[in-house]
Amino acid sequence: MYVTNEDDVKAVSEIILSRKYFRNRGKDFIGECRQFELDFAKTMGVNHALMVTSGTNALICALSALELSVEDEVIMPAFTFFATAAAIINSKATPVIVNIDENLTIDPVEVLNAITPRTKAIVAVHMDGHPCDMRSLRKIADEHHLLLIEDVAQACGGSFEGKRLGSIGEMGCFSFNVDKILSCGEGGAFTTNDDIFFQRALCIQDACCSFGPTFREAFTKVQPFIGQSMRVSELSGALMNVQLSRLDQILHALRVRKKIMLDVLRADEIDIVSSHDEAGDCATSFYLRFPSAPEANQQLMKFVEHKIVAIPISLRPAHACWQWMHLLEKERPGRAFKKTAFLTSIDYLTSTLKINVPFEMDLDEVRTYAEKISSIIRK
Ligand SMILES: Cc1ncc(COP(=O)(O)O)c(C=O)c1O
Repeated sequence: MYVTNEDDVKAVSEIILSRKYFRNRGKDFIGECRQFELDFAKTMGVNHALMVTSGTNALICALSALELSVEDEVIMPAFTFFATAAAIINSKATPVIVNIDENLTIDPVEVLNAITPRTKAIVAVHMDGHPCDMRSLRKIADEHHLLLIEDVAQACGGSFEGKRLGSIGEMGCFSFNVDKILSCGEGGAFTTNDDIFFQRALCIQDACCSFGPTFREAFTKVQPFIGQSMRVSELSGALMNVQLSRLDQILHALRVRKKIMLDVLRADEIDIVSSHDEAGDCATSFYLRFPSAPEANQQLMKFVEHKIVAIPISLRPAHACWQWMHLLEKERPGRAFKKTAFLTSIDYLTSTLKINVPFEMDLDEVRTYAEKISSIIRK
């Protein structure tokens, strides 16, 4: 979360004082949650958006809407938050993990090689604000009749070739937890253009929603079924309306700062991991690349000494598949989840360090910060 101020307080206070926390108050009622969904769908360029209680639950909505079984395979990258894999398991399917490319997002060649007759979907994860190679992934999905789901938890508002992330796949899944670009503490959103997936997600999000007047008539293409409990309150909706109004402003501020940093570092011939779409990148972070893992470690020690925060993959165990494969093995015995299959990803990730773009710094401070990083690396 980058910005909170009195507007957030006012929005939440109004709900508390009105005591109108419940989002479902009639067929044509547009409260905070519904307003957010309408505006979020418009911003992302999709027909439907649905608020849920977390990014994990947005993924569960998307994957459960596919009505998968344990025989069905969903391809996902080796570098993502564990929630991506957990959502596939929770949706009864089996995750098939593939390596990342040198830009650190899912490698389309690896995706192609992993497709079997059991493959149903691909989850593209836009890690740390960086768009995946959506052109190649869309082509593969179309040619192999697979569904493409975007995990946009870490890249809200980003785009690929001019299209917002979350609108290129059949479904988009966003997180609004406290670490994300926009946040209401805990929350998420599911997006789609497809009426059937949307109606299934409605059911999944609230086991009882087909009984009440708000959504009773919404099921025009789907027979209601037993769902779960991911319904959000108007408190989250109110916060997210304020947060959304700042999205483009936040992205602009981040992009200006990232450009300053990359200009300084590239001018000094520092190796920066490239992006599949630099203009669409959310610019929350970038990765410094070193020739090997030991050299990345050496640099990390220097950064620590100079009080520069650089983040190695070893500090992000929930983001590295080899740290959680034992959990998947337990759930899907007999499936091969072997660390040796991910040596390419391990190599890429252990030889890079993540630097967060300093949103709070003014532009001169950002330049000085980049110069400091550069001089430390070149020492
Ligand atoms: C890539 C990715 N997917 C999914 C999630 C899950 O989101 P949440 O924590 O809101 O459940 C996260 C959260 O950090 C994430 O980073």
